[in-house]
Amino acid sequence: MPSNIYLNSTEELIKYINEGIPNESLIILDSALEQFQFHNNFNVRHVYLQVSEETKNLETIEKIWDLMFSSNLNRSDEIVVIGGGVMLDLCSFAASTYKRGIAFTLVPSTLLAMVDASHGGKNGFNNAYGKNQIGTFTLPKSVVVCFELLNTLKDNDYKDGLIELVKHGFIGSKEIFNKLVSSENFKIDNDIIKKGIQIKEDIVKEDYLETGKRKYLNFGHTIGHLIEQDSKFTLSHGEAVAIGMIYELGLSKKHFGLPQEVIDLYVTYLEKLEYKKSYKFENSIDYLLGILKDDKKSKSDSVDIVLLSDISQPNLISISFDELIEVIQN
Ligand SMILES: NC(=O)c1ccc[n+]([C@@H]2O[C@H](COP(=O)([O-])OP(=O)(O)OC[C@H]3O[C@@H](n4cnc5c(N)ncnc54)[C@H](O)[C@@H]3O)[C@@H](O)[C@H]2O)c1
Repeated sequence: MPSNIYLNSTEELIKYINEGIPNESLIILDSALEQFQFHNNFNVRHVYLQVSEETKNLETIEKIWDLMFSSNLNRSDEIVVIGGGVMLDLCSFAASTYKRGIAFTLVPSTLLAMVDASHGGKNGFNNAYGKNQIGTFTLPKSVVVCFELLNTLKDNDYKDGLIELVKHGFIGSKEIFNKLVSSENFKIDNDIIKKGIQIKEDIVKEDYLETGKRKYLNFGHTIGHLIEQDSKFTLSHGEAVAIGMIYELGLSKKHFGLPQEVIDLYVTYLEKLEYKKSYKFENSIDYLLGILKDDKKSKSDSVDIVLLSDISQPNLISISFDELIEVIQN
């Protein structure tokens, strides 16, 4: 596993990069970070790039490869990527394939990227066949978490990260779940972020290639992805997964006797975040079945889904497409 480095301020981040990264490296930054004025302080060459879910595609990968070739990077050089999950996924893929792979360090700048996207070695980009359909498993050299970067995040982007963190709580930690649902203000302590990262890393350590336990991280995502696609991405990933988890908690109660109290606590938490708690599907059953069949976890008429017996007690079971469609229609 790569090493995790925790820093409080961007001043510490600049020092870490200037002193710890070879001079020939290239830093690629999310253009949302221009406000931090890093360019006045880095000794290492660096470039800002504007990326988004809509441009998380091969064309942008080509641009990143171009930046790497025009900087004459060779296989002993490395890149440092500072950005949200989109930027990290794109640049990690580009680095893992450039001249058959060069080292990279990830500096996540959103809450979601800190607790999820920067850990576990998955990268990728979208194509006409769906989200993250092309990618590799390649671990970074290290992950540098700089908490000050969160200060400029828009509330909705922050809340999307909280949704992934509450999911980490659901599958692996009563402490994280309880701290989140009882927080006065939705902002959280850095300590909870570190604990959330630990949950993901512990799972990945046991099942790097996602043949078993790593699938637990998909809790809420089977129905979340259906919602995301049905809404044509007008709902963010976090908003869609937030509602997906409500449906999957309902299924957890039915199949594994999950206490209603857990569902109630979560629903109240979503109210506090001012996130939607329900969704009305717009597309036909055939359209939804088509999406389900494309799910990497699907068989011919069923899909593997993660359901909970309690907080921190996930189970992987197969449920029929018929049952799933019935649930989302009610
Ligand atoms: N590889 C994995 O294991 C993994 C896991 C989960 C999610 N993901 C991927 O992560 C992506 C979502 O990541 P995300 O939620 O970080 O979205 P994102 O990368 O789109 O970032 C959200 C917004 O915040 C901006 N931003 C980034 N840092 C900022 C900062 N410090 N201050 C202000 N604005 C900032 C970005 O420019 C963007 O507009 C998806 O593409 C998803 O597929 C990957």
